[in-house]
Amino acid sequence: MNFTLLTDISSLVTVSTKGRGRKSGKEMSDIGVVTDAAMLFDNKIRWIGKANDALQHLADNNIFATIKSANNKAVMPGFADSHTHIVFAGSRAEEFGRRLRGVSYQGIAAEGGGILRTMKAVREASEDELYETGKQIALAAMQSGTTTIEIKSGYGLSFESEMKLLRVANRLNNDLPLRIAVTFMGAHDFPPEYSNNRDKYVQLICDEMLPAAVGLAEFCDVFTDTDYYTIEQSKKILNKAAELGFRLKVHADELSTFGAAEMAAGVGAISADHLLYCSENGMKAMVNSGTIATLLPGTAYTLRLPYAPARRMLENDLAIALATDCNPGSCFMENMQLVLSLACTNMRMTIEEAISAATINGAAALGLGEITGSLEVNKSADFLTLDCAEYTETVYHYGGNRVKEVWIEGNRVI
Ligand code: NIG
Ligand code: FE
Repeated sequence: MNFTLLTDISSLVTVSTKGRGRKSGKEMSDIGVVTDAAMLFDNKIRWIGKANDALQHLADNNIFATIKSANNKAVMPGFADSHTHIVFAGSRAEEFGRRLRGVSYQGIAAEGGGILRTMKAVREASEDELYETGKQIALAAMQSGTTTIEIKSGYGLSFESEMKLLRVANRLNNDLPLRIAVTFMGAHDFPPEYSNNRDKYVQLICDEMLPAAVGLAEFCDVFTDTDYYTIEQSKKILNKAAELGFRLKVHADELSTFGAAEMAAGVGAISADHLLYCSENGMKAMVNSGTIATLLPGTAYTLRLPYAPARRMLENDLAIALATDCNPGSCFMENMQLVLSLACTNMRMTIEEAISAATINGAAALGLGEITGSLEVNKSADFLTLDCAEYTETVYHYGGNRVKEVWIEGNRVI
């Protein structure tokens, strides 16, 4: 692959971790900005420095590179959206309207709507239909700066339809330039066939679905909350998943203080996600286990729930990641720039903390902190050029798209 020298960068946001692959607490405020910078890359980043030193660097190392000007605009790492449910079918717009008129998320679920409504549509949909929906959302995410994205199954809730969703996610990974991580989430809800025998569905997940998902998914996630999976059921699934080599994630304390964060830490989960109702104990347990707190402020916004206690988490020295949770029910939004805005305005994160959370810590929550999420030598050339000189504009000027170009593995994809 040929070398490119991107120069005249007004400010290069490296989010450098000095090789550590993640940031926690106070470290998240340091996003390693280099002003008047240049960056040399092929598929990986080879050199970063001052624009004034760039030509000398090429000459000293006998490197021939295509020179490209950033026109004095800012450059930053691509976003790593580590939590989405973008492969689904059907619309829940009607439920959204009812929620605005006062019906709760749980109230809709109790009537057989919510996740089960999407489940019915998914079971009837063909792989091609699911693929098309997922593809359109993934491409929209990429347009707004996402370079790495996680995709969960979880709207099939039967052996065959969960495998169908995993196959679609893998097909998207093959076909799209995005880096895609796949998560098995058969434990997203209980299907109606097992509503009177939930433990039997847990058994089906452990005995049949998880073994069949090996090779199709890298992570296993469980919705641990009131009316969903109990702590005991969750542990059973997660322990079995760990035995089979999956890395673990948990939808934790989204709707109630349930002890799910503590449980996630106890099983060694790579991340616990949502955490709107996370306890102080839960935070401490996660610090000790190195579990990343993935916050999804778009969901709190859509459901009009209290936001996760991001400041308390930072004071506790947790590593926070930010993600969209893009799904048809609780947050139909794929734009990480909007997530930054919600995190800063409503969870009181600083712009720098939010950028660390949406890039390197999102990558770390997918086990990719050594590969992507920051601009450091030998990491993948996954970056964004912005249409502004200051990276702060991505949050300050919200609701639009400040991303001009998207590069993944050294290829310009937008
Ligand atoms: O992350 N919490 C569970 N799952 C999704 C919502 C899924 C849905 O409502 O369709 C979430 O919020
Ligand atoms: Fe989710």
